[in-house]
Amino acid sequence: MKKLSYLLSISALAIFALVVLFPACEGPVGPAGTNGTNGTNGTNGLNGKDANAFCTKCHNAATFAAVESQFATSKHGSGTTWSGDGNRQSCARCHSYQGFKETQLTGRDTVEFIPKIPVPLQCDACHDFHGTLDSTDFPNYALGHTEAVKVLMDPKAAPIDFGNSSNACAYCHQARPGAPIPIPITGDTTYAITNSRFGPHHGPQGNLLNGTQGWEVAGAMAYTSTNHKGVATCSMCHMAEGEGTLVGGHTWRIASTDGTKVNITGCKKCHSDITSTDYKGRQTEIAADLKKLGDRLTALKLLDPATLLAIPYNQVASGTKPAGKGSRWTVKETGAFFNYQMVEADRSEGVHNYKYIKALLSNSYDAIK
Ligand code: HEC
Ligand code: HEC
Ligand code: HEC
Ligand code: HEC
Ligand code: HEC
Ligand code: HEC
Repeated sequence: MKKLSYLLSISALAIFALVVLFPACEGPVGPAGTNGTNGTNGTNGLNGKDANAFCTKCHNAATFAAVESQFATSKHGSGTTWSGDGNRQSCARCHSYQGFKETQLTGRDTVEFIPKIPVPLQCDACHDFHGTLDSTDFPNYALGHTEAVKVLMDPKAAPIDFGNSSNACAYCHQARPGAPIPIPITGDTTYAITNSRFGPHHGPQGNLLNGTQGWEVAGAMAYTSTNHKGVATCSMCHMAEGEGTLVGGHTWRIASTDGTKVNITGCKKCHSDITSTDYKGRQTEIAADLKKLGDRLTALKLLDPATLLAIPYNQVASGTKPAGKGSRWTVKETGAFFNYQMVEADRSEGVHNYKYIKALLSNSYDAIK
């Protein structure tokens, strides 16, 4: 028996060797099966955020190079007023990087240190370092200085507060008195306008978007506002993705300098039917209203059409200087002139706030026609 079981185990081994070690009679390999479904995740917790990927959304060479080349062509990077006007005490706050930084720190309207060599804006005029590096701390592209803005035209007025990045723009893009504003504004007062720079000067976009600081001459039209300020920011329209260094982004231009490209990408988010900035013909309409008011002011000898400045009431004609009106300006004339300057300097031809701008022009014209 012992021998038999020995023989059996020998033959079993031989069969095993034949089948397993020499599988010569196997057929051709069949096609691969489809992949199985993934197994469920393990229980080792939530995935971490890739901090590097988050930061490099902005911090990468291509983005910065694109932004820098746009910026270099912009008025913020290359305008002539930075070197031209930035070294004057009353201008430095908005016309030099140094003055802007100083007044941001001191909270004053004008600078103490007059920059001898003023330079244009730098990236960190608008962008702050994002201290905590927590993404929830800078949903708005790392912008600084977005607090409410003091109104220079009327220090007693409520601060302008858009509650968003537009505050960073309105700090500079607001009217300033070119010469002291005569008050009180009452029915029978007349004003001795003796300074040609009387009026709100340059960049009143923040005031008009907000629908404030116009000289609200009484008239048929009510002073209401188109609600752009409630829905749109300056950057939605001016920094919408454009084309290279022509328009949009950090060029801030809506129309290219040669006028061949107009960027309405921002507008389309809300006005799907828009084809140009002359939406519903409003720019054409406002430009015509502005011209009509200007012509009337010129005829009344209040506006010098060559310089678009005021003609002092007592100015005597000489050379190219036109003669003034000869008597003091009435309240209505003063207000109408003020509004002309405001809308002219705004340069959006009504887009910033169609309803408010329309009422200013229309009531002003009616008051002096
Ligand atoms: C939404 C875009 C954006 C994101 C996201 C972003 N940054 Fe920035 N960061 C900027 C801009 C713009 C500046 C200003 C550039 C300048 O001043 O030259 C800046 C500046 C900086 C500076 C320089 C500050 C200084 O004062 O010179 C550092 C450091 C920095 N970022 C680190 C980070 C880190 C780390 C992250 C990720 C946690 C991050 N950033 C995410 C846009 C961004
Ligand atoms: C420090 C003051 C300052 C701040 C802040 C500022 N600007 Fe300006 N901006 C200027 C000045 C000054 C000019 C004109 C410069 C020149 O022509 O020399 C200008 C020019 C412009 C122009 C005219 C562009 C053109 O090609 O004619 C636009 C549009 C503009 N700014 C939009 C903005 C927006 C939007 C913001 C906010 C994101 C902003 N600005 C923030 C001072 C400022
Ligand atoms: C509150 C900020 C502020 C102050 C203060 C200020 N400006 Fe400006 N100025 C601006 C802005 C913003 C613009 C650009 C407006 C635009 O492009 O419509 C501008 C534009 C100009 C322009 C260009 C106008 C044009 O049609 O191209 C001149 C010139 C100028 N300012 C001179 C001065 C002088 C001179 C002073 C000082 C006496 C001064 N500004 C003070 C904000 C200011
Ligand atoms: C006058 C203010 C101002 C200045 C100066 C400025 N930026 Fe900006 N930047 C903005 C605003 C506003 C936004 C947000 C735009 C938006 O809402 O679409 C922005 C967005 C950005 C972004 C994120 C969006 C993008 O284009 O990828 C980067 C990156 C950036 N800026 C870099 C820079 C750099 C680099 C400079 C200097 C060369 C600079 N900025 C100068 C106002 C400014
Ligand atoms: C609803 C869109 C919109 C908003 C919001 C807006 N703008 Fe404009 N802005 C325009 C249009 C359109 C023009 C006229 C451009 C043209 O016809 O070439 C203009 C003109 C200007 C100009 C004259 C120079 C230029 O580019 O033609 C300046 C400066 C300016 N805006 C600054 C601002 C500032 C600062 C803010 C925020 C306080 C602002 N804008 C908000 C649409 C807008
Ligand atoms: C974020 C949304 C938004 C963006 C972006 C926007 N608009 Fe508007 N716009 C509105 C709304 C909402 C109204 C109507 C508000 C009201 O009647 O009070 C309006 C009204 C207007 C009006 C007045 C129309 C009328 O007949 O009363 C004009 C003109 C206009 N937009 C032009 C533009 C242009 C040009 C752009 C781009 C440069 C633009 N808008 C970008 C939301 C937007």
